[in-house]
Amino acid sequence: MVGLTGLKEFFEKNPSIKVVIFAGKGGLGKTTCSAALAYHMAVNEGRKVLCFSTDPQASLSDIFERDLFGKGVIEVARNLYVVEIDADKRIAEYQEEIRNKIKTMYGLEKIPDEIDEYISSTSAEPAMYESATYDAMAELVAAGEYDLYIFDMPPFGHGVRMVAMAEILTAWVDKLSEARREAQKYEAVAASLKGTKVSEDEVLKELELIRNKMKAFTDLLVDNTKTAFFMVLVPESMAILDTERALAMFNDLGITLSGVVVNRVYPKTLLNDPDLPDFLRNRILDQEKYLREIKEKFGKYIAAVLPAYEREPKGLDMLPRVAADLMISKIEL
Ligand SMILES: Nc1ncnc2c1ncn2[C@@H]1O[C@H](COP(=O)(O)OP(=O)(O)OP(=O)(O)O)[C@@H](O)[C@H]1O
Ligand SMILES: [Mg+2]
Repeated sequence: MVGLTGLKEFFEKNPSIKVVIFAGKGGLGKTTCSAALAYHMAVNEGRKVLCFSTDPQASLSDIFERDLFGKGVIEVARNLYVVEIDADKRIAEYQEEIRNKIKTMYGLEKIPDEIDEYISSTSAEPAMYESATYDAMAELVAAGEYDLYIFDMPPFGHGVRMVAMAEILTAWVDKLSEARREAQKYEAVAASLKGTKVSEDEVLKELELIRNKMKAFTDLLVDNTKTAFFMVLVPESMAILDTERALAMFNDLGITLSGVVVNRVYPKTLLNDPDLPDFLRNRILDQEKYLREIKEKFGKYIAAVLPAYEREPKGLDMLPRVAADLMISKIEL
């Protein structure tokens, strides 16, 4: 059984969606789907859309054919805003903030070399990259300036790990806050003995702010009436395996998968051409086998099917075509 006939049907059934995330293995079409949906919602439906990415390969710059990387929010078409975060720059800004805080806290002119080295070395940590990404996303959504947020995930971790990480971070901040509260109890006792007053705990205040921001964002991500998660896959065995794994991960995290988008499907009608080269004929027959498997395994999740295009689907001339196929799919599985 096939799920939907395209994302149009999905958005009609789920009108309160505010965040859309395309996830999946590298190179299968996440950026293409993100850009096409963003184009449709903004240009055809007049919603104020923000399309966001932290891909260091600047793939949104590539698909919108504009230099957007690290340049802030840019309107590339009517109502269509795109921001391509330079995560390295953001990490550098974090580190500078930490250096300044240490300097003010301890009244230092200069950070000691060993500490400075330690701070610089943190930028090599993958967790730092993810945390910067997550933070940038949470901030944009918290600002609430757009009707729809489309997150084009970088080519790793499925974009699902992000939610797991948010939970770990929240737990970590809770632990820190608890320790801080304990410390405060002792400070209060000491202060009452000395007859002084405890000052309000600035650290605890800051931790609570971070926690509330993260909690609000995680709650939004796991709420399937507000956030849609789509997995993009192609009719190939590795992609199918990967989608199965992702589905299990979604279950563990309490996220509902909104649907799968099957990309790069060759037109079956080509098989009628007697001059079709064997190379292509075999590829199409292979795809048929995997499409059957996709139908069996993810049938009810199939939300849209995109054809393989004769050229790279890029630029504002090509995106309307992809958008049309994504909203109402012409290929039936
Ligand atoms: N249906 C299609 N037909 C033809 N080419 C396609 C199709 N979908 C995507 N492509 C091309 O395949 C390449 C990878 O697509 P895309 O960048 O959307 O994948 P991605 O999942 O975002 O990759 P990454 O994981 O690297 O971010 C691009 O060059 C894109 O133009
Ligand atoms: Mg991409």
